[in-house]
Amino acid sequence: MTERRGASLFDFGRLKSFGARHMAIDLGTANTVIYVPGQGIVLDEPSIVALEIVNGMERVRAVGSDAKMLMGKTADNIRTCRPLSDGVINDLNLTEQMISHFIAQANGGHSLMSRGPEVVIGVPSASTEVERRAIQAAAINAGARDAWLIEKPVAAAIGAGLPVEEPVGSIVVDIGGGTTEVGILALKRPTYSISERVGGDKMDDAIAAYVRMKHNLEIGPASAERIKKEIGSALATQEGMNIVGNVGGRDVTVGNLSEIELSQAELAEALHDVVQQIVEVVSRAIGHAGAEIASDIINHGLVITGGGALLRDIDTVLRNETGLPVQVAPEPLTCVALGAARALEDPEYRAEFVSVARFSV
Ligand SMILES: Nc1ncnc2c1ncn2[C@@H]1O[C@H](COP(=O)(O)OP(=O)(O)O)[C@@H](O)[C@H]1O
Ligand SMILES: [Mg+2]
Repeated sequence: MTERRGASLFDFGRLKSFGARHMAIDLGTANTVIYVPGQGIVLDEPSIVALEIVNGMERVRAVGSDAKMLMGKTADNIRTCRPLSDGVINDLNLTEQMISHFIAQANGGHSLMSRGPEVVIGVPSASTEVERRAIQAAAINAGARDAWLIEKPVAAAIGAGLPVEEPVGSIVVDIGGGTTEVGILALKRPTYSISERVGGDKMDDAIAAYVRMKHNLEIGPASAERIKKEIGSALATQEGMNIVGNVGGRDVTVGNLSEIELSQAELAEALHDVVQQIVEVVSRAIGHAGAEIASDIINHGLVITGGGALLRDIDTVLRNETGLPVQVAPEPLTCVALGAARALEDPEYRAEFVSVARFSV
């Protein structure tokens, strides 16, 4: 659990004028999304790196979807990893290499010219100062003219269209692959943010554990994720018993390959504990809201972003458990990139939101 309190998150008034070319990056634990104003989403790739051992030295073999294709199917000398899988950053060096690769890819595969784009990167709110500087440095090294950081919940709130610039308390819940981040914003700045290592990955693990226990079937994380997206639900319902999907794996008793049918109700049972952990993070964040903000939140409710917002009935569960109005953002997977781009484009947002200690080169 990592908690941060407002204050040092933004650095007002230190901004220079911005050129025409901007790029906004959502550096997610599961997916990296790049938005270029005027062009829209130009890159949406898994945050995965494949490494290969050559002459005893490990080097990057592939990044993004090319790396994902090598997952679980690799030879001994190749391994895949997710540099941000632990919710924050578990491998700084690989994170840097991945950012460089994605920036070049978003730029049409060319390395950047001397006047590269100004880049804003949405980073986990729990990332440390060292990690933030490294991410900025990676963007600068990749050719960005300037690199700014914005905390993910802030970008998510802007991207989801919350009235962040008004003196009204807003709460955003971003459910990603590795983390759930909750941000409470008021009077144009985050007053509280919390990040817990629970999200889509834990859901996949829970599904795999359930299938193994109940059906004696060993399934891989990709199969667990697929069935979750197809028929997963946060809520056990009567109809859910009749909504079914198939998943294949290895029978742990006899060892042969087999396929079973799973119902939505079973998936809801498998996901129950993880969903409750997410509810708990949200409740804890609400508990930290001051009286004024709490009354705004009661009126306006909360907005969910991130891929986890697409889990069926996660909004219903959060509504039932918190008693607040809950909405899923219109484009939950691209909210952070869009919000980060808006922060960079709009002079008002730019002055208020683009954040943290500048990295100087
Ligand atoms: N339709 C869906 N139902 C449930 N989970 C989903 C769905 N679509 C995506 N996800 C999950 O959302 C997570 C990725 O969300 P994302 O916001 O991209 O994560 P991050 O910001 O950490 O990179 C993954 O765990 C993925 O399985
Ligand atoms: Mg996300």
